[in-house]
Amino acid sequence: MGTINYQERIPNNVDLGNDRRLQRALEAWQPNYIDWWMEMGPEGFQQDDVYLRTAVSVDRDGWAHFGHVKMPDYRWGIFLTPSDPDRAIHFGDHMGEKAWQKVPGEYRNILRRIIVTQGDTEPASVEQQRLLGQTCPSLYDLRNLFQVNVEEGRHLWAMVYLLHRYFGRDGREEAEALLERRSGDVDSPRILGAFNEPCEHWLSFFCFTTFTDRDGKYQLRALAESGFDPLARTTNFMLTEEAHHMFVGHTGVGRVLKKSAEMMKQGDPRKLGAIPVEMVQKYINLWYSLSLDLFGGEDSSNAATFFGASLKGRDQEGKDGKYDEHTALGQTYDLAVFDKDGNHVIETLPLRRAMNEVLRDAYVEDCEKVIKSWNRILEKAGCDLRVSLPHRRFHRHQGVYSGLYFTPEGEWLRPEQWQARKHTWLPTPEDSAYVKSLMTKAIVAPGQFADWIAPPPRGINGQPIDFDYVDFH
Ligand SMILES: [Fe+2]
Ligand SMILES: [Fe+2]
Repeated sequence: MGTINYQERIPNNVDLGNDRRLQRALEAWQPNYIDWWMEMGPEGFQQDDVYLRTAVSVDRDGWAHFGHVKMPDYRWGIFLTPSDPDRAIHFGDHMGEKAWQKVPGEYRNILRRIIVTQGDTEPASVEQQRLLGQTCPSLYDLRNLFQVNVEEGRHLWAMVYLLHRYFGRDGREEAEALLERRSGDVDSPRILGAFNEPCEHWLSFFCFTTFTDRDGKYQLRALAESGFDPLARTTNFMLTEEAHHMFVGHTGVGRVLKKSAEMMKQGDPRKLGAIPVEMVQKYINLWYSLSLDLFGGEDSSNAATFFGASLKGRDQEGKDGKYDEHTALGQTYDLAVFDKDGNHVIETLPLRRAMNEVLRDAYVEDCEKVIKSWNRILEKAGCDLRVSLPHRRFHRHQGVYSGLYFTPEGEWLRPEQWQARKHTWLPTPEDSAYVKSLMTKAIVAPGQFADWIAPPPRGINGQPIDFDYVDFH
């Protein structure tokens, strides 16, 4: 374990070469994966050489190798962070037991469900983003899109590895099904809501990678605590890649805001081909609220089961000093609950049942920091406008606030009040048409950028901004 055989078709540090059964299973799955990638991956760029980072080692500075590759030739590998033979379970009912190296029989079904639900999001986002290359604002951004796409592909591999390695026949069937569902398909949609929403333009892409990939970060962090050691080690390594996805979103929206602020000094940003700050706010409201839904219900028996079973922890459950204790028994969480007339009461939940909300709290805090950094950009550019996160009750479709209406400040609304005002908070068809009207073609000359976005301060991996990030053939 720990060393990687580069000669193998599937680069890995899981000793695949000595596991014939698993090797055969993954080699049988691989052609279907490539078929899926060619059908649902980035459309129109499969023959081009893209300056991509490939994981070739899990070492601190060895896991990111850069070079031009055609995406279908990308070396999707299987990497787990190195194992700790002494690792013990550190939360839930199994606290103190040795971490599991095999699937515990009693949790087989729920564990498989957790892995499939995570795995399903990975190809879904590739599907959502498959046409974006055709309207990229620069080569730099095009390359970043493709980097995100190939890594989501690798994340699918990571989950499929667990299914094949630990779940036998039903694992194989689930691995096939991950290639069969399609984002937004009426008959066979992806499992979670936000992964069926269209991602029609680059502003949505940047908001998606800021907020939806950040949900991914928190789900992975919770799973990285798992008592099922292979899941913990797999998700831990996925987090190293996830950071770049959020960087793409965070800096992408930041560059859009910078450009808007600069244009506002010259006049109406709309007349100058930029995206007004108020319109960016609407997309923040949309993707943030869709992403909040991904955490699941505030009061959840599943969440209690996952935590109790030591399968899914809290954010940084094992970090020194973060939590006083790790069973979460005999503790509570207060939640504001509304009825359909707008009366609200505080409901006191057993802490285990509130674990989705606890994870959402960590996420909200992280998102607040992102918003602060965007506002610093606006301030620095001399713009008086600011962006903000809507309240977590706003525009929800899961949990106790779904079916109710709230302002972005969290104030309860009657349905007709919501109807009258929602277009001021969420993107309208006209907003979407305007954003799309700015993005009608790909900007592919090295160093050139679309009018609606500022260039980044620096290139990728020390390369200049006008580097040949994608070589067309
Ligand atoms: Fe991912
Ligand atoms: Fe991601």
